[in-house]
Amino acid sequence: MNKPKRYTVTTALPYTNGPIHIGHLAGVYVPADIYVRYLRLTGNDVAFIGGSDEHGVPITIKAKNEGVSPQDIVDKYHAIIKKSFEEFGITYDNYSRTSAPIHHKTASEFFKTLYDKGEFIEETTEQLYDEEAKQFLADRFVIGTCPKCGNEESYGDQCENCGTSHNATDLINPKSAITGNIPTLKQTKHWFLPLDKHEDFLKAWILEGHKKDWKPNVYGQVKSWIDDGLRPRAVTRDLDWGIPVPVEGGEGKVLYVWFDAPIGYISSTIEWAEREGKDWEPYWKDEDTKLVHFIGKDNIVFHCIIFPSMLKAEGSYILPDNVPANEFLNLEGNKLSTSKNWAVWLPEYLKDFPGQQDVLRYALNANAPETKDNDFTWKDFQARNNNELVAIFGNFINRVVVLTNKYYQGVVPIPSRFTKVDEETLATVKAYPDVIASSIERYRFREAGQELMNLARLGNKYLADEEPWKVIKEDEARTKTIMYVALQIASALATLSEPFLPFTSEKLKKILCHSELVSESQWNDIPTKEVLLPAGHQIGKAELLFSKIEDETIQKQLDKLEASRKANEAANKSVEPQKDTISYEDFTKLDIRVGTILEAEKMPKTKKLLKLKVDTGIDTRTIVSGIAESYTAEEVVGKRVTVLVNLAPRALRGVESQGMILMTETAEGKLVFVNPDDASVNNGLKIS
Ligand code: 2FM
Ligand code: ZN
Repeated sequence: MNKPKRYTVTTALPYTNGPIHIGHLAGVYVPADIYVRYLRLTGNDVAFIGGSDEHGVPITIKAKNEGVSPQDIVDKYHAIIKKSFEEFGITYDNYSRTSAPIHHKTASEFFKTLYDKGEFIEETTEQLYDEEAKQFLADRFVIGTCPKCGNEESYGDQCENCGTSHNATDLINPKSAITGNIPTLKQTKHWFLPLDKHEDFLKAWILEGHKKDWKPNVYGQVKSWIDDGLRPRAVTRDLDWGIPVPVEGGEGKVLYVWFDAPIGYISSTIEWAEREGKDWEPYWKDEDTKLVHFIGKDNIVFHCIIFPSMLKAEGSYILPDNVPANEFLNLEGNKLSTSKNWAVWLPEYLKDFPGQQDVLRYALNANAPETKDNDFTWKDFQARNNNELVAIFGNFINRVVVLTNKYYQGVVPIPSRFTKVDEETLATVKAYPDVIASSIERYRFREAGQELMNLARLGNKYLADEEPWKVIKEDEARTKTIMYVALQIASALATLSEPFLPFTSEKLKKILCHSELVSESQWNDIPTKEVLLPAGHQIGKAELLFSKIEDETIQKQLDKLEASRKANEAANKSVEPQKDTISYEDFTKLDIRVGTILEAEKMPKTKKLLKLKVDTGIDTRTIVSGIAESYTAEEVVGKRVTVLVNLAPRALRGVESQGMILMTETAEGKLVFVNPDDASVNNGLKIS
């Protein structure tokens, strides 16, 4: 077991422009919380720091779209996100926000320090400008082709496809995200952080110093950026939402969101320390502190290159010991997307699965995108719950607690002689804390979660092999020993499950009346303590830890996604681009009349076609229309319709169709008549 240490653990500050979904939880917050809970259980001094990222263009865009102020947006989503973290048991020591005065002060002072030290280049350059919107196009206000990977929808500061961070002027074919206009160039002054100046330090620190201990996906990305050559990056913007640039000439400009957001980790730590009467500085400035940033892969460049360069330039800070970034989680085979509502939102999950936070935590961790992008499927979620949590963990605990109550009124029995199997089982239990710790300390949380389940498997197998329910009939002493051993496994599970299944762990500890027995560093007790649940200890009654999730419940979730998919398809259709312009003469060639359907019959051996008799005001004619999937023949008789009457006749399945009924299609794919609903509009009237 390692010596206790001081840790500062941070999680990416989520943008407050929407709620949190499973991708966020799986990629950043669940692994971080597992890590932190483990550190605390093993007696370390931990500051677990989070907060909301409340500046930046995405928030401004959302506010504009909704016709409210950016502050309204961040107030709303900060509250929602903070609540979700609490509900899912993410145990922050402090959860702050970057609109807080303490953050504005800390970030301003940080900028000022670098400015005073001459760490910036101050330069007037040409930046993209939207003449119509009368504003510079920073970051997400501009979209264009990524110079690195060719993605046509890259943002001004970062391409979400390849993760590259670039300057807006690097984009090929840039377009304003506000008006769609092609930007012009306009001169403006900004402050640049010369990353090239820090290249040697970054090479020595990461490429030489962290080749072995950083995850290959993180190391690989960082190496590729450094190998491409680093350039100065603007750390200020011509925007009105953000932290004002606190130096002369900075009027009307704000700090780049990626300059201020990581400083949010520091200001959140300061806020926490002030509240708790602690000194914040050792958590950021003492070489003995281990600083770990949990982030998603799109944040790697900022946490491994830009923020460390800022910290190094400032001079008094420690650097991250590790940045265990995860890859992305997909959902049912498709990229998670806020705009397409292709997500499982945490508030919605809790409505549908009340009290089942641990199931989601467990399923997400079991499938976490640790080394490559991964897929969340509802079927896998169901299987993790039914086959692992219910059938293995829950089943073992239930059998132990029920039998202890049944045979011994809930009192841990006195064991007699241990067999070789008992001794081996107890020794294996004692080894588990180290096995799980070793995975956690290497940031392999999936592996760690599976090891926990292996301990429950061990318990199940022990009971199945030793069969106390049979042995009780002939050997009471042996039964007591079996139950005693099984209770020790249950006790270890109560402690070791805490990082992964915190709500279950709490419930189980209550059932086992654990609190009367264990010390602060419960984890470390398991290998060293003679017994975990001593003979004579009274436990409580059995309670269900998990319950089976039925197919119908899963189907409802799949139906929700299907509805999103259809709505997206429909939305895509409704934004079909306008066709080429036609002249008025072209239009007047179309003879469109009001008509009434007089008769209708389904065309034999076709799925879509109805044969209609239509009164066009000019005549009564036959029109074959492909509407049978939307209407029955009976439904359409008597309907007022608009008819293109001078369309050249054509034969459909042997019937000559003498015109076309005009239709539109709803979001759900149903065809609907374009019909005049005013009775005074007679058949034969022209539409023009
Ligand atoms: O990608 C994001 O959601 C960013 N808001 C993460 C910021 S992390 C940190 F620097 F604050
Ligand atoms: Zn790219």
